[in-house]
Amino acid sequence: MPPRVPPGAARMIWSDDRSPDTAGAAGEINGGEITVGVIGLGRMAQALVFPLIEAGLLDRQRLLAVVASEASAERLRHSHQLAVSTDPLQAWQAPVVLLAVKPQQLEGVAAALAAAEAPTSPRLLISVLAGVTLARLQRLFPNCLMVRAVPNTPCLVRAGLTGLAWGEGLSAAHKEWVQQLFARVGEVLELPEPQLDGFLALTSSGPAFVALVAEAMADGAVAAGLPRSLAQHLAHRTLAGTAALLHERELHPGQLKDMVTSPAGTTIAGLRHLERAGLRSALIEAVVAAADRSRELA
Ligand SMILES: NC(=O)c1ccc[n+]([C@@H]2O[C@H](COP(=O)([O-])OP(=O)(O)OC[C@H]3O[C@@H](n4cnc5c(N)ncnc54)[C@H](OP(=O)(O)O)[C@@H]3O)[C@@H](O)[C@H]2O)c1
Repeated sequence: MPPRVPPGAARMIWSDDRSPDTAGAAGEINGGEITVGVIGLGRMAQALVFPLIEAGLLDRQRLLAVVASEASAERLRHSHQLAVSTDPLQAWQAPVVLLAVKPQQLEGVAAALAAAEAPTSPRLLISVLAGVTLARLQRLFPNCLMVRAVPNTPCLVRAGLTGLAWGEGLSAAHKEWVQQLFARVGEVLELPEPQLDGFLALTSSGPAFVALVAEAMADGAVAAGLPRSLAQHLAHRTLAGTAALLHERELHPGQLKDMVTSPAGTTIAGLRHLERAGLRSALIEAVVAAADRSRELA
């Protein structure tokens, strides 16, 4: 198992009670609260940043966010009272920058920074871009210390998973700071960079695969005569309860399957259909395809 930081175990280092012996991320993090820049305050960045703001762990006045369109900036300023701009340089004023644009928007971000010849001092850059390697990030942002993070959408409800791979030159204190940041929205794992594609395929694409299963199971219940809203509720609860049982009892999925499958019963009748339809193979191939696509994007 890779080293793991349990959810909620960590304190935010930049809060008032931060440990004085924790070194600064890029030389500027030491002392008091820090300002965080966000380039691309879209769905993923919001899933990370909003829980921190709601928990009072990140001061909204200390967030310098950049988006592409004035319409998005205006919407975020209005709905969340945040400093959101379309000026690409705004975020680079902060010592820590979260990079969360789409991979195809990356070159534009780097070009804007290069044209402005900023920043002048090293920044800690945390990239959540799928498939974009540390080596490429380092080439595009040579003046930054680099972290590659793969968070997933359940971070929105603090039930996330984040995989982290480190760039060159980060101290133990940098790493601890970043781990604690992501620990606020879920579980954090350190991984060798080549494993991040498989990690992303399972944990970031996985919620979409599971949502499809939830929707299809509810369709089945509707076909069996249940009202839609009840069927959807039951599907969600069944998935959540099953995940909790697997996790808390540390059961292998096969054990749980056998626990609920009685001879000549209802479950084995359903399982026969799933095996005939190739559900296992479809899910295996879905995860492999997502991992391949992540490598392709790199
Ligand atoms: N969603 C996930 O589960 C997940 C998981 C892991 C990693 N990721 C990664 O997270 C990244 C963002 O994904 P997302 O789903 O959050 O995308 P998204 O919702 O489309 O957000 C992209 C954001 O980037 C902004 N943007 C575009 N070009 C920009 C530029 N040149 N400068 C500054 N901001 C710019 C967009 O602004 P406008 O709104 O004005 O267009 C938008 O706010 C992707 O690289 C993805 O690989 C996502």
